[in-house]
Amino acid sequence: MSILVDNIGELVTNDPALGDGPLGVVTRAAVVVEDTRVVWVGPSDRAPAADERTDLAGRAVLPGFVDSHSHLVFAGDRSAEFAARMAGQPYTGGGIHDTVAATRRASDEELLATAARLRAEALRQGTTTIEVKSGYGLTVEDEARSLRVAFEVTPETTFLGAHVVPVEYADRPDDYVALVCGDMLEAAAPYATWVDVFCEQGAFDADQSRAVLTAGMAQGLGARVHANQLAPGPGVRLAVELGAASADHCTHLTDADVDALAGSSTVATLLPGAEFSTRSPYPDARRLVDAGVTVALATDCNPGSSYTTSMPLCIALAVREMGLTPQEAVWAATAGGARALRREDVGAIRPGGRADLVVLDAPSHVYLAYRPGVPLVHRVMHNGVWQ
Ligand code: NIG
Ligand code: FE
Repeated sequence: MSILVDNIGELVTNDPALGDGPLGVVTRAAVVVEDTRVVWVGPSDRAPAADERTDLAGRAVLPGFVDSHSHLVFAGDRSAEFAARMAGQPYTGGGIHDTVAATRRASDEELLATAARLRAEALRQGTTTIEVKSGYGLTVEDEARSLRVAFEVTPETTFLGAHVVPVEYADRPDDYVALVCGDMLEAAAPYATWVDVFCEQGAFDADQSRAVLTAGMAQGLGARVHANQLAPGPGVRLAVELGAASADHCTHLTDADVDALAGSSTVATLLPGAEFSTRSPYPDARRLVDAGVTVALATDCNPGSSYTTSMPLCIALAVREMGLTPQEAVWAATAGGARALRREDVGAIRPGGRADLVVLDAPSHVYLAYRPGVPLVHRVMHNGVWQ
C-alpha cells in the first residue's frame, strides 16, 4: 500500500542532494511512502499518484527524532531529590543507588509497563528511534532482565552494567569490574547492541572503563561512553581511542578533548535535559560544531538527572543555551542521532529510508525553538504507519 503525503509547507530531508542547505529543505513538497519505506521525495506538483493521500495543509515535516541516549528501565521516584537540588543541593549521581534498590525490588511487568509508557510518550513527541540502556540492576540477573525489557521497546539496547559500583561491592570495585566483564556481560550480550560505561570520578576510572568497553567489543557490541559529565576527565579521549560511536554528555571539555573528537568518527552526544534538571552549566555546542565535531542531541531520559522524553525541549535548550542555530539543533536531533547509533536508514527522509515522519503544527522547523514548551507535534508516522 502506498501513501502520498502531500501539501507539505517545508520538508526537512537532511539530504543536501534533495533540497536547499544542510537540511536539504524542499518547500511545497510531497513524500510517497510504500509499506515501511520512503520511495519518492520532491515538489508537490511533480508527485506520482498513490493508493492514499494525506493533505498536510502547509505544515512542516521533519525526519522522526532519533533519541540516542535514554535510561527507560527503572522503578521508583526521585522527585524529592530534584526538589532538594532546586533548593541548592548539588547533583552527584549518588541517587543512582536509590533507583537501583527500587529497580531490583520491581517485577518484570512493572519495569516493562514503565519503559513502554515512556516509549509511547516519546513517540507522541516525535521520537521514532530510541536507544535504551540498562544500568539500574547491577546484578547478573537484574542487568539481563533490564535488557530483556529494553529489547521489548526498542532494538537499540545498551548494556550499562558499569553505571556505578553497587553498594555490596563498595570496598572491592575491581571485583565488580571483573563481574561486569565476565558473567554479567555474558548474560547481557544476547539482548544488547551496545556497551556503555560511566567514566567519571565516583564511578569508573579510565582503566576500569577501558576494560569494560574492550570486553563488550570483544563480544561484538559497539562502544559508547558517559564522558566528562560532572568534571573534566579521560572519558572523551578513551571513547575516541576505542573508536566508540559516541561520547555522551561532553559538558567539561579541554581543547585536547575537542581536537580528539574533531579528528575522529566519534559523535559528541549532548544531553541538555541533564544540565536543565541538575541546574548545571550547559555544554558548549557552538565550540564543538565550529571545531568540526559531529554533534547529536538526546534526552538522557532517566529518573535522576533528566526526567524528560522531549526531543523538542532538547532542541529549544540547544538553541537558547548552547549556541546552536535552529537548523543545527534539528540536524543534531535527527541525522546526528542516527550517526551516534551508526544507522543509515533513519534520521533523514529520502528514497530507501525508513518512513519516519514528524508533522509539526507550524510552517517550519524553526518553530521548535521559537515556540518552546508548546506541543507542536501534530502527527507522527513510524515505519510507514500513521500513529
Ligand atoms: O546519564 N551519568 C550517569 N547516569 C545518568 C544519571 C543517572 C541517575 O542520576 O539516575 C545520566 O545522567
Ligand atoms: Fe545517561
